[in-house]
Amino acid sequence: MTTETFDIETHAKTYQDKGPADILRLAYGNFDNIAISFSGAEDVVLIDIASRITSSLKVFSLDTGRLHSETYRFLEQVREHYNIELEVLSPDAAQLEAFVRDKGLYSFYKDGHKECCGVRKIAPLRRKLQTLDAWVTGQRKDQSPTRANVSVMETDSAFSTPGRALYKFNPLSNWTSKQVWGYIRANDVPFNELHGRGYTSIGCEPCTRPVLPNQHEREGRWWWEEETLKECGLHAGNLAPGS
Ligand code: ADX
Ligand code: SF4
Repeated sequence: MTTETFDIETHAKTYQDKGPADILRLAYGNFDNIAISFSGAEDVVLIDIASRITSSLKVFSLDTGRLHSETYRFLEQVREHYNIELEVLSPDAAQLEAFVRDKGLYSFYKDGHKECCGVRKIAPLRRKLQTLDAWVTGQRKDQSPTRANVSVMETDSAFSTPGRALYKFNPLSNWTSKQVWGYIRANDVPFNELHGRGYTSIGCEPCTRPVLPNQHEREGRWWWEEETLKECGLHAGNLAPGS
């Protein structure tokens, strides 16, 4: 099936209250050219569930060059554990060198994370998404105010191009953090060791810190920035236009 024949709006309504296994079965039953976008955090549950549904799992991770060493080791652990093709995408070398020459290695603390995320995450993601019909993410409604309305599947408003729709599946959308961790424990799913040290949400090393008990998970990400702007551009469609 292609994006032209898949009626995403109807399926989004039918599946709006369903769990990850049902959504992934629908996704893999309809698309071959589909890949999971894996951050190296608790979205590993997507890989675990999908590996029970398809034998041709494609997974990619955006290597910003600034991930924790624990995350790099975890990516390798996942590659071996599930015996999957895990593509690690790098930023464009010339673009990155020019950016660092111009702004240094920590400009995001001064003028926000958008520019650095643009070079290190969004440009490589755009390049990858141009080759796919659909992608799968670990976004959940309970993660932040910007994600409260994340649909279980949608047309990707940020990365579709005029002649070509790109579909985005968010199978964990309806799951809470508690359900994700219940699944990880019940199924002996490997996890990033940073989770055991107070890191609830995990991104790049300079932009992620542990949270205290009862602090919300996203408070450890880009903590110097305003809550409602905490999208790096991967999921820019979640933000209101102009924000
Ligand atoms: S972020 O936009 O703030 O960085 P978050 O860490 O909550 O996102 O992750 C949400 C989903 O975005 C992940 O489950 C994953 O699908 C995707 N994602 C985030 N970071 C990466 C990454 N480095 N590589 C691949 N996918 C990622
Ligand atoms: Fe750069 Fe921080 Fe964005 Fe990583 S999360 S790409 S280090 S601004």
